[in-house]
Amino acid sequence: MSEFVRAIAVVDLSPGQATELTLEGQPVALFNVGGAFHALLNRCPHRGGPLGQGFLDGAEVSCPWHNWTFNVTTGENVVSAEVKVARHEVKVEDGQVYVKVG
Ligand code: FES
Repeated sequence: MSEFVRAIAVVDLSPGQATELTLEGQPVALFNVGGAFHALLNRCPHRGGPLGQGFLDGAEVSCPWHNWTFNVTTGENVVSAEVKVARHEVKVEDGQVYVKVG
């Protein structure tokens, strides 16, 4: 069953930054877009690159391996929207970021 798991403190991921985490055994890429947090599966659909290590520009992250670029708010590839990365629900409570996994 899916549940929210504490991922990181809000103060530990500044706007414009990305990071990667393992939550309940799942690889999660977490992004702060202007103060709003978004989470994707940390596995690029091309060859499995770690999106949480990618370069975040606005709401778009470029995969560090071959530069495929995704909108982190939708998980969609910016060139081919049908190429999508799975998203996780995110919530913020008491200064902590929680990600739904499972
Ligand atoms: S693995 Fe991400 S672009 Fe190739």
